[in-house]
Amino acid sequence: MIDVVIAGASGRMGKVLLEAVAGAADLRLVAALERAGSPWLGRNAGELFLGLDARITDDAADALATATVLIDFTRPEASLHHLALCREHEVAMVIGTTGFDADGKAAIAEAAEDIPIVFAPNMSVGVNLALKLLHTAAKVLADGYDIEIVEAHHRHKVDAPSGTALRMGEVVAGALGRDLGTCAVYGREGVTGERNGQTIGFATVRGGDVVGDHTVMFMGLGERLEITHKASSRLTFALGALRAARYLTGKSNGLYDMQDVLGLKD
Ligand SMILES: NC(=O)c1ccc[n+]([C@@H]2O[C@H](COP(=O)([O-])OP(=O)(O)OC[C@H]3O[C@@H](n4cnc5c(N)ncnc54)[C@H](OP(=O)(O)O)[C@@H]3O)[C@@H](O)[C@H]2O)c1
Repeated sequence: MIDVVIAGASGRMGKVLLEAVAGAADLRLVAALERAGSPWLGRNAGELFLGLDARITDDAADALATATVLIDFTRPEASLHHLALCREHEVAMVIGTTGFDADGKAAIAEAAEDIPIVFAPNMSVGVNLALKLLHTAAKVLADGYDIEIVEAHHRHKVDAPSGTALRMGEVVAGALGRDLGTCAVYGREGVTGERNGQTIGFATVRGGDVVGDHTVMFMGLGERLEITHKASSRLTFALGALRAARYLTGKSNGLYDMQDVLGLKD
């Protein structure tokens, strides 16, 4: 049995993670974390998803004391706080939070020297297969194709472009031998001049309850290839996070992504 703690349990992802854990025979929820001052503190996770029985607490150190893995879909500042505690208590971590800056990513890589971590901006199996397909497409369409990435998310998302769109850009840029840091173009306005064929463009759409749509276009002369993924429920991310948690059991340290979890690396 894998003993898990879920951070941000009353959040949009937290709730579906609870649902996924409740439906998994090999995982047991030992505690749910909420921030200090949350109205959920002192209550039972069974109130968030029927059938569960675990305390909701803001005492992360205490919750982690008996845990095998922490699944964290919160905010970068919260995830980095939890990261330090997981390192101290030797608890594996699945980090789904997006929006980390370079220092935050470096802190995750450093902690992974001591504990095993899966860190992925999108835990859906379909998206991670799409990353593999994008690598292949970019290799074949290296010359003469303009590449644009369009993503859409619900109105509550606070960062843009999405972590998944950026990851798709990194994979494509990497396959082409380009550096996304210098070839990315984030939105266009006014007199932009003609398109530079070396760039990778990003466009962001926000609204309604869109769970997450991503399309990468390879636009050449006489044809256009589009690789699209559409998530219809957040459960896809939660089920991927559970696969990641299972993958980490028995590992002592290391930084992994969903390509590792799904065996998609060459
Ligand atoms: N990797 C993936 O597959 C994937 C998929 C979907 C979403 N995400 C990412 O997951 C994260 C959460 O998304 P969401 O839609 O679930 O957001 P959300 O509904 O706002 O939930 C965030 C949760 O984290 C808690 N939290 C925020 N700041 C905290 C802090 N400083 N200390 C402790 N708890 C804190 C929130 O508590 P309060 O309500 O009290 O603020 C809430 O329970 C985002 O970064 C999102 O981009 C990743």
